[in-house]
Amino acid sequence: MTRGLFITFEGGEGAGKSTQIRHLARWFADHDRQTTVTREPGGTPLAEAVRGVLLGGAGTPDAVTQTLLFAAARRDNVLNVIRPAMAAGQVVLCDRFADSTRAYQGGKLPDADIEATIRLATDGLAPDLTLLLDLPPEVGLARARCRGTAADRFENDELAFHEGVRARFLALAKVEPARFAVMDGAMAEEALAAAIAAVVESRLGARIAGSGTS
Ligand code: TYD
Repeated sequence: MTRGLFITFEGGEGAGKSTQIRHLARWFADHDRQTTVTREPGGTPLAEAVRGVLLGGAGTPDAVTQTLLFAAARRDNVLNVIRPAMAAGQVVLCDRFADSTRAYQGGKLPDADIEATIRLATDGLAPDLTLLLDLPPEVGLARARCRGTAADRFENDELAFHEGVRARFLALAKVEPARFAVMDGAMAEEALAAAIAAVVESRLGARIAGSGTS
């Protein structure tokens, strides 16, 4: 039976995660692997509704409320989309996961509280590989603005905040080098897609083959 794989994409605004997820899904299809693509916050009707609450300007929740809402959306996605897809032997590609909470809500409430909500939300599930698309925030924010999504409340935050997010992502990658791969988000789209495929191949190797045994 083919084993499931769980790969997350992380990075700041405008880092090109969704484009690269599409490339990687195609790459896995070429390797006879079915993929499920999901995102956070989101992925299920309930979690997408929570996304609407978080990003749609419904009030200004404080950092604790934000963290709990992201966690609630995550738990629903883990239980109803990610775990079932993995149990069916699929490759799950997730646009943001728990590291986004660490990077974005980190510093606003105690680390122990952040980790406790992550533990509850993920049900102990950790990614097999996390691709961090690293980019200076001024470049990413300019890209996001071109896409016309800059109206989101989170994207109106100060450059300094996004510099902190970037630093926290890079610090996480340093602590867990076996799980993280830091990619240069400034690379051209096709070149970055090829670099990501090479990393996936070298890190996950035998686990990629569609007909492998567990
Ligand atoms: P989205 O439009 O999906 O941003 P992007 O295209 O950059 O991924 O909005 C998600 C926003 O939510 C983004 O600003 C990061 C933020 N976020 C958190 O603050 N904490 C979290 O745990 C998650 C999953 C996302």
